Amino acid sequence: MTHARRRLLAAALALPLAARAQAPIVIKFSHVVAPDTPKGKAAQRFKELAEARTGGRVKIELYPNSQLYKDKEEMEALQLGSVQMLAPSLAKFGPLGVKEFEVFDLPFLFKDTAAFRAITEGPLGAELFRKLEPKGIKGLAYWDNGFQIMSANRPLRQVSDFQGLKMRIQSSKVLDAQMRALGAIPQVMAFSELRQALQTGLVDGTENAPSNLYTQKIHEVQKHMTLSNHGHLAYAVIVNKKFWDGLPGDIRGALEAAIKEATAYANAIASTENAAALQGIQASGRTTLHTPTPAEMNEWKKALMPVHQEMAPRVGKATIAAAYKAAGFVAPD
Ligand code: LMR
Repeated sequence: MTHARRRLLAAALALPLAARAQAPIVIKFSHVVAPDTPKGKAAQRFKELAEARTGGRVKIELYPNSQLYKDKEEMEALQLGSVQMLAPSLAKFGPLGVKEFEVFDLPFLFKDTAAFRAITEGPLGAELFRKLEPKGIKGLAYWDNGFQIMSANRPLRQVSDFQGLKMRIQSSKVLDAQMRALGAIPQVMAFSELRQALQTGLVDGTENAPSNLYTQKIHEVQKHMTLSNHGHLAYAVIVNKKFWDGLPGDIRGALEAAIKEATAYANAIASTENAAALQGIQASGRTTLHTPTPAEMNEWKKALMPVHQEMAPRVGKATIAAAYKAAGFVAPD
């Protein structure tokens, strides 16, 4: 072998070694729920896929259960670059000034999961992500969780059962209006503070997806839950835009592929995870589950439909119209 050839070969062999010797790119992924929820499991799946597909050049550090930041702080941390990735619920974007996201909080908007996905996988989902970019945030994917139920220490069957109850909500004006329309008193509170607030009586009840209620052991501090499916809980997987745009192209591509796969996984497990959580709640014997009658649901819908009109100036008429169209929403009689 000639000297020049030997040098070429040595350089080719040295390259991967040098690349391997470099410290991995660390992505801190913070979220507020338990690891054994649809979001927690999908985050874990993403970590495994991302690390494998980048051959260890990327390390994903997961911080579940508000270990690093509570709801509002995590968004600030992402914008500042203290964390690189989050998957907040869609309700968390209103306080950021992107009020159109609160369209997802409109009560009884989605008849089923397909109606929700028709929005997130269509032009409205993409348009909403574009609105995050001036805030230094890039939206990568929507992850589903599922329909929300109501809990309290008394049965919530009729609208009058809500009268005067302090109900914890996420910081969304639509959710605020929803609780007021039911006669309850909405209380904005971080997810990490919910269980203790219910236990000490600071609030009387809440709404959430069964997987969140079960993994936070809310059924140990609430006597009744109503399977109302009045609202829907889903997430946006987001990254700090500057960080993302600055990644080497091949790494970004590998991460995008990992996100795509983790998203399919998240959306595939959401409904079975929530059904299993409901079974767990029932088996605990601590909480009575109520399935509302059609007449009871009609009464809730009657009370809650005006929230759509009331919130139109905030959420935007065009956004609501686009959501109705994509979701095939038909107003109840
Ligand atoms: C909540 O605050 O109730 C939810 O956003 C928690 C979550 O992220 O599922």
